[in-house]
Amino acid sequence: MQIVIGCDNAAVSLKNTIIALLKTKNVEIEDVGCFTSDDPTYYPLVAKRACEKIIESGYTKRGILICGTGLGMCMTANKFKGIRAAVCHDIFSTERSILSNNGNVLCMGERVIGAELAKTLVSHWLELTFKDGPSTPKVQAIIDIENENMK
Ligand code: RB5
Repeated sequence: MQIVIGCDNAAVSLKNTIIALLKTKNVEIEDVGCFTSDDPTYYPLVAKRACEKIIESGYTKRGILICGTGLGMCMTANKFKGIRAAVCHDIFSTERSILSNNGNVLCMGERVIGAELAKTLVSHWLELTFKDGPSTPKVQAIIDIENENMK
């Protein structure tokens, strides 16, 4: 699996923790910054860098975006066609973001979640794959709405 990961200056520490975790797994990591907590790059610009890489990959890559709350990264990521981003700070939402929603970007907030729970969520998320079933037409409805609204 290939993962694009990014954060703003509020979340460099958690991003580094997650990168260390990813390095223990069979994952190719692309880090789009920020690399230091004094980098003033706004979170939407980091989310843009990550989403463009996911789109360029033909959606084979997944993303992990971390800011103070996860919210700004998620809102920005969902402005990109084919991106289904979710803020997940608990195991059930993390699981459903893939199994129900076929999500491709996991967002978290360093100011919300502890490092150990974040690592548990990411480990679980990496193992999950969307499967065709009752959720398929619902995800297709998201895609249909996106196609109507994003030209
Ligand atoms: C800090 O800029 C904070 O607003 C940001 O990290 C994020 O939480 C926004 O959603």
